[in-house]
Amino acid sequence: MAKLLVLTLLGLGLAFFRDHRSSYLARMNTSREVKSVELPNCKLIKGIETGAEDLEILPNGLAFISAGLQYPGVKSFEPDKPGKILLMDLNEEDPTVLELKMTGSNFDASSFNPHGISTFTDEDNTVYLLVVSHPDFKSTVELFKFQEEEKSLLHLKTIKHELLPNLNDLVAVGREHFYATNDHYFVDQYMRSWELYLGLAWSNVVYYSPDDVRVVASGFDFANGISMSPDRKYVYIAEMLAHKIHVYEKHANWTLTPLKVLQIQNILAEEPKVTVVYAEDGKVLHGSTVASVYKGKMLVGTVFQKALYCEF
Ligand SMILES: *[C@@H]1O[C@H](CO)[C@@H](O)[C@H](O)[C@H]1NC(C)=O
Ligand SMILES: *[C@@H]1O[C@H](CO)[C@@H](O)[C@H](O)[C@H]1NC(C)=O
Repeated sequence: MAKLLVLTLLGLGLAFFRDHRSSYLARMNTSREVKSVELPNCKLIKGIETGAEDLEILPNGLAFISAGLQYPGVKSFEPDKPGKILLMDLNEEDPTVLELKMTGSNFDASSFNPHGISTFTDEDNTVYLLVVSHPDFKSTVELFKFQEEEKSLLHLKTIKHELLPNLNDLVAVGREHFYATNDHYFVDQYMRSWELYLGLAWSNVVYYSPDDVRVVASGFDFANGISMSPDRKYVYIAEMLAHKIHVYEKHANWTLTPLKVLQIQNILAEEPKVTVVYAEDGKVLHGSTVASVYKGKMLVGTVFQKALYCEF
């Protein structure tokens, strides 16, 4: 009898794991064939070899690039070096990257580990750069003022909060105001693995301001990139492991109401129209995370490897 019980439990255990394993593989969807869609004028950007996880292009063509992310379980080609913010001027004929100096008395550049970034431009045209960083694999938001003449970032503030434990990306709505994604619920690495494997979908989106911090959307299976429509009325959230983009309406009181969900798997079958402008099977780029365009030019970044510049 005892043997039977053990075998039954073992069987149930195996079924549980097989079930979760197959759904895990579908959520990850890593082994699949990618059909190439080529662009004629692309080249790898010199000086980016350790990732460009996020980037943002200002309306004047200046691009900020977050480089050198270290993230648990992700490869790093320079594990002992801190990350950096690069600047690229897309108005130039043959644009190159320049590392922005970081200044400020309370800022420790040696543990800077930049992830998602976002800019905010105020009424007098001062540009602020907000950066998710993971010093010692914790989560902070570093607030900088961009000093264009000096080609530097003046560090103003480090933001930490208990509702911001596992930051991935953010979108600024003010100098110290933003929406941010937490890609996991748990902080502990062991619990994070189970959370991911079981597909608990406990990841969320938080609104932060100096006097009001709250969860504004939750229940995501790895909330990842977040951005805003050009008219700043809508917020887009990428739910990575569900292969969805959520569209939310943003209200004056900063709450978000869900409008629609774009299922990326069926992009060819459904409205709105989605065009694949570039696709590549891994010969050039590994693990691309971001792309942005400016006047017929496109930048594509990756988690831990290279970045691409294309003209079209
Ligand atoms: C993975 O993605 C491809 C392309 O989007 C899709 O056709 C396929 O069904 C997906 N596989 C799984 C296991 O979900
Ligand atoms: C926020 O604004 C929206 C739209 O005006 C409203 O429906 C909602 O009740 C408000 N929520 C709070 C918490 O004030």
